[in-house]
Amino acid sequence: MDVMAAAARIEAAGGRVVHMEVGQPAVGAPTPAIAAVRAALGSGPLGYTESLGIPSLRVAIARHYTDIYKLPVEADRVIVTTGSSAGFILAFLSMFEPGDRVALANPGYPPYRHILTALGCEPVLVQTEAANRFALTGEALLAAHAKKQLAGVIVASPANPTGTMMTPKALAELVAASESAGIRVISDEIYHGLDYAVPAETALRLSDSAVVINSFSKYFCMTGWRIGWMVVPPPLVRPIDRLHGNLAISVPTLSQIAAEAAFKGRDELEAIKHGYEDNRKILIEGLPKAGLDKFLPVDGAFYLYADISKFSDDSFDFAKRLLQEAHVAATPGVDFDPLNGRHFIRFCYAGSAADMREAVERIGNWLAKL
Ligand SMILES: Cc1ncc(COP(=O)(O)O)c(C=O)c1O
Repeated sequence: MDVMAAAARIEAAGGRVVHMEVGQPAVGAPTPAIAAVRAALGSGPLGYTESLGIPSLRVAIARHYTDIYKLPVEADRVIVTTGSSAGFILAFLSMFEPGDRVALANPGYPPYRHILTALGCEPVLVQTEAANRFALTGEALLAAHAKKQLAGVIVASPANPTGTMMTPKALAELVAASESAGIRVISDEIYHGLDYAVPAETALRLSDSAVVINSFSKYFCMTGWRIGWMVVPPPLVRPIDRLHGNLAISVPTLSQIAAEAAFKGRDELEAIKHGYEDNRKILIEGLPKAGLDKFLPVDGAFYLYADISKFSDDSFDFAKRLLQEAHVAATPGVDFDPLNGRHFIRFCYAGSAADMREAVERIGNWLAKL
């Protein structure tokens, strides 16, 4: 947020900033989503919906699992949420008690630990390593569990900020290890659809008790619509229904209408994904020539996590100077990793190819002068 504010000041003074700091698509919702909303606006009042979501949207989400993963999922297990962010709150409230310990990969998406802390649970950061593609392993999880009992684990593949993925085999091993120890699995699948290195596997295929959380924010380009979903084991449906009914009543109706129609926009969304693949290639080829030759495997999502330790051991200062002096906005690793984040910078490559080329050139010129 500090980087964004500083970028806005540069732009207000007439400068041009290449934005690679915020993790969101540069384009909006697919055309069928917009058309459905336009039609809905002219056709009567928009009331509350069922707390679990509009039934036809829940059916469409369930069908998504047959279409994409060839895995039948009952619509009764699907719950529509206000972004995946609300899915986390509902999952943690329904699965854990205050004091429960929940394992997370470090580096990782900060709200996991912040939401857990706010709800009185204890986030347990498990350090990941290059040898495991910066993902949690069953072995590391069971070692943390042996020290002090864990109630749950959150996995994400593709992951933010690293952009790395777990192979289906690695995910299966982690899920099996968790289940053998009675550790409940929450799989954040928000970046599914944006997989380049290996196919993204859903935890739903690997476990009947895993909770899967997903969103229309990233692949579907609908961050501001605030809509996502969960697929939960049958015993959790009613508790979450009651929680959600009390906390929010229902998810905004217009966003639910847009989301259902978004499934019809797959051709547009695949074209956008191909754009990310082109951007990924520009960065993988261009950044080493520009001087940033060490980064994590760029497997999925739209992030590249670069090691800047050759230039700085303060990623916050590095990001500030990269913005002030080269007008490229990126996110310091300290946001995602309290242990080693000072050596990393996250670049989001969800912008245009022209922006990616310009960023590579600016970074190269700037690093050459350091
Ligand atoms: C890994 C991960 N999970 C969840 C979210 C939250 O997304 P939303 O609430 O828009 O679905 C984000 C947002 O950047 C994310 O990167």
